[in-house]
Amino acid sequence: MLLNSPLDLAKIMAMANLLSMFILMEMIVSGFGFGVDGLRMDYYIMSCPFAESIIKNTVNRALRNDPTLAAALVRMHFHDCFVEGCDGSVLIDSTKDNIAEKDSPGNLSLRGYEVIDDAKDQLEEQCPGIVSCADIVAMAARDAIFWAGGPVYDIPKGRKDGRRSKIEDTINLPFPSFNTSELIKAFGQRGFSAQEMVALSGAHTLGVARCSSFKARLSNTDPTLDSDFAKTLSKTCSTGDNAEQPFDTTPNTFDNFYFNALIRKNGVLFSDQVLYTTPRTRAIVNGYAMNQAMFFFDFLQAMVKMGVLDIKEGSKGEVRENCRKIN
Ligand code: HEM
Ligand SMILES: *[C@@H]1O[C@H](CO)[C@@H](O)[C@H](O)[C@H]1NC(C)=O
Ligand SMILES: *[C@@H]1O[C@H](CO)[C@@H](O)[C@H](O)[C@H]1NC(C)=O
Repeated sequence: MLLNSPLDLAKIMAMANLLSMFILMEMIVSGFGFGVDGLRMDYYIMSCPFAESIIKNTVNRALRNDPTLAAALVRMHFHDCFVEGCDGSVLIDSTKDNIAEKDSPGNLSLRGYEVIDDAKDQLEEQCPGIVSCADIVAMAARDAIFWAGGPVYDIPKGRKDGRRSKIEDTINLPFPSFNTSELIKAFGQRGFSAQEMVALSGAHTLGVARCSSFKARLSNTDPTLDSDFAKTLSKTCSTGDNAEQPFDTTPNTFDNFYFNALIRKNGVLFSDQVLYTTPRTRAIVNGYAMNQAMFFFDFLQAMVKMGVLDIKEGSKGEVRENCRKIN
């Protein structure tokens, strides 16, 4: 698609957003495929009418101070949902009897917990015991994506917080060493198509990876890795395992540059670059690289779907008083 002005893009985005909203509303109203009857767009409208704005303002304030937190909040939602469902389990601190998800090696550099705590403190003051930590994480990710220039979307609320957070459950997260079939399988087990998996991987338009997550690619020549970019990655790693490499040239902006990077063989993780190497997913990468509006449209729908993975309703969960502790 050829765009003549930013206005055209804005119009297309607005249309895409509007259309997707209708589709989502319909899917949720009819409970299609989700089985989450207790969730509603307006869940807090009576019990805590300012919940949405409190969270949005808290996120915006935090991101003004540190734009890199947008990536952190998006990743936190992903890790929450893929381990034990979207139930705030990622927020739980370890205790002397329980090693929580947080302390797994896969947590690598999860950040932004203080933003969630900040929002929770304000919500507890306004409407104690009403807004779940799982909903705060989901809304914070949504607001961070919009703040960074990504699509705006509404999400259903009413998730309850879980009572389990165990280090061993984090084995359910995909590894950066996964090839396309493994990625398709891991996401397929949670009901996502290959296309949705590629769209969700587009979240790597935000943020950074640490050397330890990609250094295995540098030990032998990898034909899927551009040779100049290999040098860039080696240079990053020369300062240590924790050195950060942005996924694309605009790590604080939600755009489709990540997919363009894959086409140039500039993918950071092995699991990023394979999406372009494998014929099955290459066409999807090309599509998103050419058409940002299409990426945004598919991404927001997949995010809404991810946001209702194995959620806890009713007595299966609780509304935590403190997001770091089970009540
Ligand atoms: C497809 C499978 C995926 C794998 C193998 C994967 C793996 C990783 C790894 C290894 C990192 C870098 C961690 C570090 O070195 O510090 C990372 C960062 C990140 N991931 Fe993923 N991820 C995947 C999918 C997703 C999805 C679905 C989302 C969100 C919807 C997501 C959001 C992020 C974000 C935003 C960052 C940057 C975090 C920051 O800068 O603090 N990832 N991911
Ligand atoms: C992640 O886990 C490590 C242990 O593997 C722990 O030292 C670190 O504090 C955890 N990070 C966060 C943000 O909780
Ligand atoms: C992907 O990895 C799995 C497990 O290591 C392996 O069995 C499979 O052959 C790999 N697929 C491709 C296309 O390389």
